[in-house]
Amino acid sequence: MTAAQPSHRASPLTPAELASIRRPFRGARLLPGRAYHDEAFLDFERDEWFFRDWVAVARAEELPDPGSFILRDYFGESVLLVRGGDDVVRAFYNVCRHRGTAVEERECGTAVRFQCPYHAWIYDLDGRLLRARHTEDLEDFSLATSGLTSIRAETWGGWIFLCFDVATPGLEAYLGDWFAHHAGFGRDFARLRRAARLEYDVAANWKIVAENYSECYHCPGVHPLLNRLTPYDLGEDFFPSGPWKGGWMVFANGCETMSLDGQRHGRPLLYARDEVEAGRIYYYILWPNLIVSVHPDYVLTHQAWPDGPGRSKVVCELYVDADEVGSADVSGAVEFWDITNREDYHVVELQQQGTRSRSWEAGRYSNQEASVHAFDLMCADRYAMDGSRTEREARTAVANAEKRLAARSRAGAASTAPRSTADG
Ligand code: FES
Ligand SMILES: [Fe+2]
Repeated sequence: MTAAQPSHRASPLTPAELASIRRPFRGARLLPGRAYHDEAFLDFERDEWFFRDWVAVARAEELPDPGSFILRDYFGESVLLVRGGDDVVRAFYNVCRHRGTAVEERECGTAVRFQCPYHAWIYDLDGRLLRARHTEDLEDFSLATSGLTSIRAETWGGWIFLCFDVATPGLEAYLGDWFAHHAGFGRDFARLRRAARLEYDVAANWKIVAENYSECYHCPGVHPLLNRLTPYDLGEDFFPSGPWKGGWMVFANGCETMSLDGQRHGRPLLYARDEVEAGRIYYYILWPNLIVSVHPDYVLTHQAWPDGPGRSKVVCELYVDADEVGSADVSGAVEFWDITNREDYHVVELQQQGTRSRSWEAGRYSNQEASVHAFDLMCADRYAMDGSRTEREARTAVANAEKRLAARSRAGAASTAPRSTADG
């Protein structure tokens, strides 16, 4: 059984606000302050986005064996993720069909079956109700229709995505051209294994965190170290049709990766197929909140989970190839990103504070922030509820950047690189 979703809400933005965001970005305005501060917006986003779209919540390796399970708190819902005897990963509401008790209390573990702690109804790993004492003479009751309520779960690249709405297309159709784009990488993300995890409690709306990730306009002032490794104005954006956005930046001469000293120290290339790709870092957001940064030798993810309109729990995880985990020394990369994250969260908290002011009206994008606009367009199109998708635009500085790239010895081949704007 799956749970029915409530009917759609009305758009929280006015037609005028929607129009001002959906303009070409040189004339567009940012989201209004209410989008970052009002409970009503978060209610809308939770119901219309997080409970209708596919959202990554875990990694498949967290469920290594048949019977492995984990609990996830998803916007107040306790979700039970379990690998069945048939090796299929499934998700259920952790709610007994008898009187609603949480069936599983442990955060993670291994189970043969799930037995409710209250009256001992027993569910199989695939959610079927196997035993419910003293129900044999009930009217209109059968074990077959009283299993745990399921949630759609699909796995891609090692990430387990959930979708609570039966009307949403399957994950592959939903992510669209992301699959073809990802196929351009040298190997499957399913091989990734987590080498480090950082957590931050950030006093800012989750979309402000995503917008911050989407531009490097702030990098010269906010990230002196990062800006030495990847000059803020070199790179390109992609033009996807699917619910994702992304682009790449170029390492400065002599730099190999994002870490304290900019060196890989012999860590092998993961996804880069040639020297051009080895000289880049690729940045993505898979709608709504899976941020993926593909470095030459590791993959970094950020996920900002709303904790009220003005707070986010940000989880930052660093992944290496399965063959490298345990042996790869990623401490320089972890420390680099911890510094960078804290620099970012300092300014996003100040932005959260400032946009609360009654004086503030939605600002303008610089010509370095087309990718912020691309994220805001994904929001605006989904606030609008009209089914249309606004076309995105590239950074205007790309043309200049291309000239600079052509003048650089290592990046000189970038114009023939396999993954550039031609991808989208
Ligand atoms: S509430 Fe679960 S068996 Fe009664
Ligand atoms: Fe930043």
